[in-house]
Amino acid sequence: MSPTSNLENTNSGSESAAEVNWDELGFSVVTTDYMYVMKCAKGDKFSQGSLLPYGNIEISPSAGILNYGQGIFEGLKAQRTEDGRILLFRPDENGLRMKSGADRMCMPSPSVEQFVNAVKQTVLANKRWVPPPGKGSLYIRPLLIGTGPLLGLAPAPEYTFLIYCSPVGSYHKGPLNLKVEDKLYRAISGNGGTGGIKSITNYAPVYTATTDAKANGFSDVLFLDSATGKYIEEASSSNLFVVKDNTISTPAIDGTILPGITRKSIIEYAIDLGYQVMERSISVEEMLAADEMFCTGTAVVLSSVASVTYKETRTNYKTGPETLSAKLRQTLVGVQTGCLEDKKSWTVIVS
Ligand SMILES: Cc1ncc(COP(=O)(O)O)c(C=O)c1O
Repeated sequence: MSPTSNLENTNSGSESAAEVNWDELGFSVVTTDYMYVMKCAKGDKFSQGSLLPYGNIEISPSAGILNYGQGIFEGLKAQRTEDGRILLFRPDENGLRMKSGADRMCMPSPSVEQFVNAVKQTVLANKRWVPPPGKGSLYIRPLLIGTGPLLGLAPAPEYTFLIYCSPVGSYHKGPLNLKVEDKLYRAISGNGGTGGIKSITNYAPVYTATTDAKANGFSDVLFLDSATGKYIEEASSSNLFVVKDNTISTPAIDGTILPGITRKSIIEYAIDLGYQVMERSISVEEMLAADEMFCTGTAVVLSSVASVTYKETRTNYKTGPETLSAKLRQTLVGVQTGCLEDKKSWTVIVS
């Protein structure tokens, strides 16, 4: 099926003109029509951005992002509803998280209002790429990077806020089989590191562990705390929850794990459904004794964990339609896609 729109496709790449089979969307780049770009000098405030045809960007070889990794990113989705609206889910939270990441990385940041406005403009300009209801979503990727040139180790003289997007389907197919990584760590334990922000520099270091795990048939890696190696933290790009009887537990936000927006939303939905939710330290032993386990994140949505393998021993968890994970997923997806009433006013209509 080819997406239809009254927007002219000014992209020179051939991919964007390709036929999109909405039934076969995976989680990879599909080139869309427009990207949003806004620049700002060090010490200034972001003021005016614009939509440009999607395409390569020119960057100095001595740009701060290329040499010293001064950059952060965000991820959120737009969904098309049955009645033709396009919804974002809590985009202000992404804007706030970008601001706190920018502070930690010594960068200026767009205001939350500028952020949400830019996301809306990007989605509207690429409206034809929002998949039909039930077929997927438009993944939106805001970047904030130091693009000004420098040689000495210091904050870049210029910054670029850029948003691009791509239609996506499921990140994982079916329940997850996780492998506990007990030698490499994702982040330094405690408040002094950068685990709690979406710094670009937090992501490539997980590849050694994830590549090895995937080669051995696992879906993803589960990281432990770097101080003791006894407590679970998060997966490579999602937060973790364990369920025992009627209690749901998730690692506390302590500067090490990313404060996921899906995590935060699921905690509220679970409390509303009458469950007790605890944010605290969870040992590996405790996780292995749980009844159910799941991961949350914009990309993974809410995915049940079928098994966790720790030092060659595999532990299985309950999955399927009767689980609490299934119930919570239904609530979350229902609201995000406009099928369930949004009692908390978390969805934002793009128009
Ligand atoms: C390391 C990490 N943990 C957790 C999450 C989940 O966060 P969110 O629910 O805001 O997408 C992400 C994804 O952004 C992530 O990269």
